[in-house]
This record gives sequence, structure tokens and C-alpha cells, in this order.
Amino acid sequence: MNSKVIIAPSILSADFSNLERQIRLVEEAGVEWLHLDVMDGHYVPNLTFGPLVVSAVRRVTKLFLDAHLMIENADQYLEVFREAGADNITVHYEACPHIHRTLHRIKELGASAGVALNPATPASVLKEVIGDVNLVLAMTVDPGWGGQTFVASTLRKVEEIARMLTSAGSNAHLEVDGGIDASNVARVAQAGARVIVSGSGIFHSENIVEAARLLRRNAEKALP
Ligand code: DX5
Ligand code: ZN
Repeated sequence: MNSKVIIAPSILSADFSNLERQIRLVEEAGVEWLHLDVMDGHYVPNLTFGPLVVSAVRRVTKLFLDAHLMIENADQYLEVFREAGADNITVHYEACPHIHRTLHRIKELGASAGVALNPATPASVLKEVIGDVNLVLAMTVDPGWGGQTFVASTLRKVEEIARMLTSAGSNAHLEVDGGIDASNVARVAQAGARVIVSGSGIFHSENIVEAARLLRRNAEKALP
């Protein structure tokens, strides 16, 4: 399959008492990735899950596992998340004082390396690492919880990052995360995002399979 966008449902909004069943539904919808939000109660106020859940998910699916680490001391945990089965590991620019080393360590472990920028972090910080990343995650909410409202001022930054990646000759993925559903996905796709994370927009819908399909349709309709 050669879709123009990658849909990455965030399991944070899924029913954890039926996680395998929820994963089967998004598989049925044809999604490519699963987005796994790891929060430590320090870098962000919320606590979610760690490598144990990542490895449990790994055992039940072949989907590409996209781990989004919203944690301090990420360097200390890279190996354990890789061993748990993460295919991509994204760390926050704001939480990693030695980001160059961190990104290279992720790649040494054989994973794809992503860097995430919060809404208030300018795109310009990417300049020094653009050649080192396989993925740029433009946060469209401040990280911490699922179900927050999309911050529309981030659209301009998504466009700017898309331009930066093109002019650097980079084929890194441009991913967006936070407050995205079928009603606004066209705007992020138009701005240049090609990996779409959605948590509550998919898992809090009455029909999870249809919600994931609609997200893709609306995103792809918006592409040139
Ligand atoms: C926010 C997380 C997101 C979140 C998205 O801190 O990084 O991945 O789960 O959830 P929705 O789509 O509900 O905003
Ligand atoms: Zn996330």
C-alpha cells in the first residue's frame, strides 16, 4: 500500500481494558502506525505507561510503533524502549540538553529518531539537527493529555518546518500531534504534515474504524 499520509492512532485515548481489540479495529481501518505516549509526571504533569505496555502492544501487532517520549532523562530509557519494540523513538527538544547525542543513540539502537517541538518552540531550533532526524513532530497542543484543543497558531510553523525539510533535502517524516480530528485534519495536511496522530478523534468515536478511515480521506483530499 502506498498511502499519501500515515495515520497514527494514539492509544492514550483507547480502552485499556480492551487494548488488543482496539488495536484490531484501527488495523481493520488500514492505519500504518500506532502512536504510544509515554509521560513521566515530571516533564509533563501526567503519568501514562512505560516499556511494559509498549512490549505488550508489540506482541499483538505488526504495526509500526511510534513512541513519543514526554520524559526527562530520555537517554536513560532509549534502550529499554527499543528493546520493548519501538520502531521510532521521538524525544522532546525541550527535554534533551544533548539532543545531537540522543538522536544518534536512537539510530545506533536501530530505530528511527524523532524530535518533537512544543507549540511555543520555534522551528529554527531544528536547523542544527535537521540532518540527524528521521522524523519531526510538531506538537499542535502542549503535551500532557489527550483530548485538548488544537492550537491553530502551530499551522504556520508546520508550513515552515515543511519548507525547511525540503530545502535541506531531508526525507524525514513531518508528524503532527494533538487535537486533530476529521474536522481539522485537512488544515494540517495542507500545511505539510504527512503523519497524523489522533487519539480521542479516533478512539472516542462511536465507530473507531470509520473515524480512522475518515481522517485519512479528509487528509488526502486536502493534498495537492
Ligand atoms: C498529547 C499526546 C498526544 C495525545 C493526542 O500530549 O502527545 O499524542 O494523545 O490525543 P488527542 O488526539 O486526543 O489530542
Ligand atoms: Zn503524542
